[in-house]
Amino acid sequence: MKVLLICGSPRREGNTFIALSEIKNRLESQGIEAEIVSIGTKPARGCIACAQCKAKGGNRCVFDDDICNRINEKMASADALVVGSPVYYGQPNGTVLSLLQRMFYSAGELYRNKPAAAVAVCRRGGATAALQTLNMPFQIMNMPVVTSQYWNIVYGREEGQARLDTEGMQTMRTLADNMAYLLKAIDGKPWPEREPSQPMHFIR
Ligand SMILES: Cc1cc2nc3c(=O)[nH]c(=O)nc-3n(C[C@H](O)[C@H](O)[C@H](O)COP(=O)(O)O)c2cc1C
Repeated sequence: MKVLLICGSPRREGNTFIALSEIKNRLESQGIEAEIVSIGTKPARGCIACAQCKAKGGNRCVFDDDICNRINEKMASADALVVGSPVYYGQPNGTVLSLLQRMFYSAGELYRNKPAAAVAVCRRGGATAALQTLNMPFQIMNMPVVTSQYWNIVYGREEGQARLDTEGMQTMRTLADNMAYLLKAIDGKPWPEREPSQPMHFIR
């Protein structure tokens, strides 16, 4: 079993990376493989609604010049997803959102039914609004949302300060425990048969 963790901070060893590392270490201690992929500092495009991904298939975005398709490729062999983002102006950072929207639109079948969790990292405020935003795609992809003993928030401003948030770090470890428990509980179990989708766009 493998969990893919997306680190949405441009700061390579920043607080989001520290929070995700706490989850990774705990998962590995329970025999679950875990990989952190940082989105880095290069530009990422937003979705342009060209729908070429739907026309061509293959779980790929038509734009191949950023990390979106690399993440999709890794998700093909992962059983669960964790997305961590620093909070910028009360929301996940813009690059994270651009990537998430293209990942889910271009390769939904790689994400569907896989457990997921969001983590927000901030100096002081806006983390719950950021978590709400990050959880939105999970909830329409039949992804069981994994929770912890508190909202998945870690506090810190300068790089490294997250380690001082001992409750936040514990929240990350509990999240990892719950993720490991769920993955083991559902391993090999089929999902319920689903009705064909009935899209209704409110336009007649
Ligand atoms: C553009 C920008 C906007 C920010 N907005 C917020 C905010 O709304 N609330 C907050 O508490 N911290 C805010 N911060 C602080 C970061 O969330 C904080 O430094 C966090 O630790 C960064 O995580 P990182 O080290 O993983 O990059 C902001 C930082 C930047 C660069």
